[in-house]
Amino acid sequence: MKSIVILISGRGSNLRSILDANLPLRVKAVVSNNPNAGGLDIAKAHGIATVVVDHRGFASRADFDAALAAEIDRHQPDLLVLAGFMRILTDGFVERYAGRMINIHPSLLPSFPGLDTHAAALREGVRIHGCTVHFVTPRLDHGPIIVQAAVAVLPQDSAETLAQRVLEQEHRIFPQALRWFAEGRLHLGASGTVTLDGPTWQQQALLSPWDKP
Ligand code: GRF
Repeated sequence: MKSIVILISGRGSNLRSILDANLPLRVKAVVSNNPNAGGLDIAKAHGIATVVVDHRGFASRADFDAALAAEIDRHQPDLLVLAGFMRILTDGFVERYAGRMINIHPSLLPSFPGLDTHAAALREGVRIHGCTVHFVTPRLDHGPIIVQAAVAVLPQDSAETLAQRVLEQEHRIFPQALRWFAEGRLHLGASGTVTLDGPTWQQQALLSPWDKP
């Protein structure tokens, strides 16, 4: 069975969706940079080891990333999963885990990298918004796309209502991407494109609320 380590910073709803999916994966540890992250309690309730590496205790990003990598490497995970991990990582860290680190972002990348994606989507007037699971590369919120889910933007939406509908989709596609990984079906080609073994992957790689789960 393949193993993962999950990095979080906050409430951990994506973490919960992954743990509740009963994936054929070994979750070796949940690591947080924030000692108060609600996700730590979710991990503990699932009997998973938790580690805090508080970024405030380090003089530089490089020092923090080195400490983080040391914790991660103790577990030798096959994949590193960023589930609401809100620190910018150094290029050295990203390169260390190249092709072995995935992230979820609350927009249809490459639109709206960075923070406050739902307010930005409303400001731009996009009609379709969503979320993306992708491999991590040194460029922030950019990298080979594994799966996306789309939601319609409604005239009455606020950033909060839109965030809520996108989050529901995050909770579908992140466990889905990890299931593909666990099954050994997910491949990152040398040219940086993602493929999935199996005949139906083209249909599965874009999910929308009107699809069957
Ligand atoms: C999610 O919207 C995720 O896409 C973003 O940060 C949020 C984390 O939420 N990167 P949670 O901690 O998983 O509830």
